[in-house]
Amino acid sequence: MLSGKSILIGITGGIAAYKICELIRMFKRANADVKIVCTPNALNFVTKLTLQSLSQNKVAVREFETENFKPEHISYADGADIMIIAPATANTVSKIANGYCDNLLTSIVCAFNKPVIIAPAMNRNMWENPVIKENIAKLYKLGYEILEPEKGFLACGYSGQGRLCRTDKIFEKAVEILHSSDMLKGKKVIVTAGGTIEDIDPVRYISNYSSGKMGIALADAAKSMGAYVVLISTVDVDKSYNVIKVKSALDMQSAVKSEITDADFVIMAAAVADYRVKNYSRQKIKKTSSDEITLELVKNPDILQEICSMKNNSVCVAGFCAENENLTENAKAKIVQKGCDFIIANDISRTDIGFSSDYNEVTIIDKDGNVTKLEKTDKNRLAKQILEVIYGRNCSDNRELCTSQSC
Ligand code: PMT
Repeated sequence: MLSGKSILIGITGGIAAYKICELIRMFKRANADVKIVCTPNALNFVTKLTLQSLSQNKVAVREFETENFKPEHISYADGADIMIIAPATANTVSKIANGYCDNLLTSIVCAFNKPVIIAPAMNRNMWENPVIKENIAKLYKLGYEILEPEKGFLACGYSGQGRLCRTDKIFEKAVEILHSSDMLKGKKVIVTAGGTIEDIDPVRYISNYSSGKMGIALADAAKSMGAYVVLISTVDVDKSYNVIKVKSALDMQSAVKSEITDADFVIMAAAVADYRVKNYSRQKIKKTSSDEITLELVKNPDILQEICSMKNNSVCVAGFCAENENLTENAKAKIVQKGCDFIIANDISRTDIGFSSDYNEVTIIDKDGNVTKLEKTDKNRLAKQILEVIYGRNCSDNRELCTSQSC
């Protein structure tokens, strides 16, 4: 199941370290290559020899015990497809959340740019400590996959939330992530993000409250799923994928049109201004004695509608729909009006989701009227779920097409 995949397991100093022996066996049975890195304290709970025998690989503990030309933490970070830290103590959780690199394990995590699963385990009171809660919230926000501890009898004699989650749950999550990380391999995904800026004069403009977070989260998720990503954004971001910085709706229109020719997916999360000023003033508009001023506006092109009217069947286009009432009904009307494959509707009247928030909740509608509701969660997590729905549905459409043509 996992042949060709390399799993790096980081073990820290908690009693649940002994449970990781079973986790290693699960990965070995699935034909994965397993490498182990331990904090020095982890070896108080499980021996190096046990871990070495089960993983059939050398166990790394200290940074400078290396025969490698590359620094040890970089070769470990480069060589693995996924990293799992289990059990993760309160100490290691806090170090990772704050960028500490004071041992081999924390240095590897800092250099690791692929998926990381963190499975914390600790005493109940430590788990409930506000500092730990804040650090866990930070890790969630940074995109780490957290498998929270379970409730039950704890080794320290307490009862409550703190014990390591089941090892089969860790295994299944890793398999799910590894499979989804190849889902968009070879696909070109274009995402638009942010609110367009329509200049009035050199110092004033018309725009909206879009922060670009939703679009950027989608672009990040598509990249983590193996896609070649082009983000067309009104917001400045420094990413490892291609970012085209635009300002106005007209800039965005020309960037989308020049990128779409070889695209597989286009996702329009940007809030594009429907109107721009008719006559841009090259000079700052002066205050006059009049109490009123009139700005004449002209309609911007509807980029989504335009690309949908031109596209062929090989590109799948999803638009967003910002609504404040009758979400599903309005979204169904919009998918017909725009002619796209999917509409992702969000409620922008709520302050806890949508514009500028770190969270969102969406209803996805496809062109056949199928409705999928995705619960409120952070935009990074939601972005992955949105791509899974769009990709899943799009592929099943293609399979149906294939069957009906007996190919
Ligand atoms: O950026 P964030 O702060 O994270 O907030 C995210 C968001 C709320 C902006 C995002 O989730 C969202 O809803 N984006 C679409 C906002 C919008 O413009 O909705 P609309 O219903 O007006 O437009 C529908 C679709 O048509 C959108 O895909 C839009 O990109 C597209 N459109 C709209 C107008 C236009 N002239 N051209 C377009 O292509």
